[in-house]
Amino acid sequence: MSTQLLTVEHLSVALSTSRGSFKAVDDVSLTVGTGEIVGIAGESGSGKTMTALTLLGLLPHGARTAGSVRFDGTELLTSTQRALRKIRGRQIAMVSQDPATSLHPILTVERQLTEHMRHHLGVSKSEARTRAIDLLATVRIPDPEQALSTYPGQFSGGMRQRIAIAVALACEPRLLLADEPTTALDVTVQAGILRLLQRLREERGLAVVIITHDLGVMSALADRVCVMYGGRMAEVGPRSEILAQPRHPYTRGLLDALPHPEAGAAELRPIAGSPPSLGKVPSGCPFHPRCPSAQPRCSTDRPELLPIAPGHLLACPVDPLKVPSAAGSGGGA
Ligand SMILES: Nc1ncnc2c1ncn2[C@@H]1O[C@H](COP(=O)(O)OP(=O)(O)OP(=O)(O)O)[C@@H](O)[C@H]1O
Ligand SMILES: [Mg+2]
Repeated sequence: MSTQLLTVEHLSVALSTSRGSFKAVDDVSLTVGTGEIVGIAGESGSGKTMTALTLLGLLPHGARTAGSVRFDGTELLTSTQRALRKIRGRQIAMVSQDPATSLHPILTVERQLTEHMRHHLGVSKSEARTRAIDLLATVRIPDPEQALSTYPGQFSGGMRQRIAIAVALACEPRLLLADEPTTALDVTVQAGILRLLQRLREERGLAVVIITHDLGVMSALADRVCVMYGGRMAEVGPRSEILAQPRHPYTRGLLDALPHPEAGAAELRPIAGSPPSLGKVPSGCPFHPRCPSAQPRCSTDRPELLPIAPGHLLACPVDPLKVPSAAGSGGGA
């Protein structure tokens, strides 16, 4: 139904470190349609932010990319920085994971909102001001007119995050990359921000890539979910299928680790062990050392990402629905 706005094909990103060059993103393919909300989930270090930064041409120095990233028909990986600057902010905007880097502490809210607009949209000062007030109202900042003359530090964390979203939306981007947009916010504020993103998708056809550790955050929002581990895609598919019938043991692990409102803390089942660091990604399936369904071949054979249902791809040759898990747990949903 939707046209593809973003097409990522076989994207790899190698970062250089003092120990050598290692892949932080390894063969990731993903599409995002106009008005679509796609979630990228995975534990720390799975390559979520690096994938997003690639779309903006903002990778660390020395990073090397391979594959293809097309935005509205333009190949971004080979675009010049000048061409990327035109796309960045104007067509693709990002709300960063670190709220401290999203907003400038010593510039007023008005300046941060209107400078983008005047630069990219060429609107007059008064037009930019009117638009800024509208945007602040859109993200539900009380008394937007008065908020214009304040500094980010005068707001609470939740309000600052809303302002950061307003700044990201100032030039009416077609794609918003929201990296952990609700981390560290209380549940009510989280819900408000997620509702806002949904509304903008409905009203403006905004496409959103929402990055999170927490598959629970996705449950209200994403149309499709991509689960990453060790820089690779473990599973991608429609949200309803991923949440109701996860097929990758890692996806199941992430879901089992979520708190269930009806159960107590004792019901939490975190995945044993920790995710690999850069340069220490295990051979074969990167998840095999932590996987309750692992078989000998999982430590040697790299699993291919293969279709298992329309729009649903899985990188695991062991079907967890057929193999009893080591945890012996029932449940799921
Ligand atoms: N500037 C950098 N130099 C070297 N390695 C880096 C750099 N930034 C990130 N990495 C490494 O690249 C890998 C992928 O990092 P990335 O930031 O994409 O993870 P993430 O999935 O966003 O994790 P988190 O949930 O913690 O934000 C990690 O192993 C990380 O340590
Ligand atoms: Mg990150």
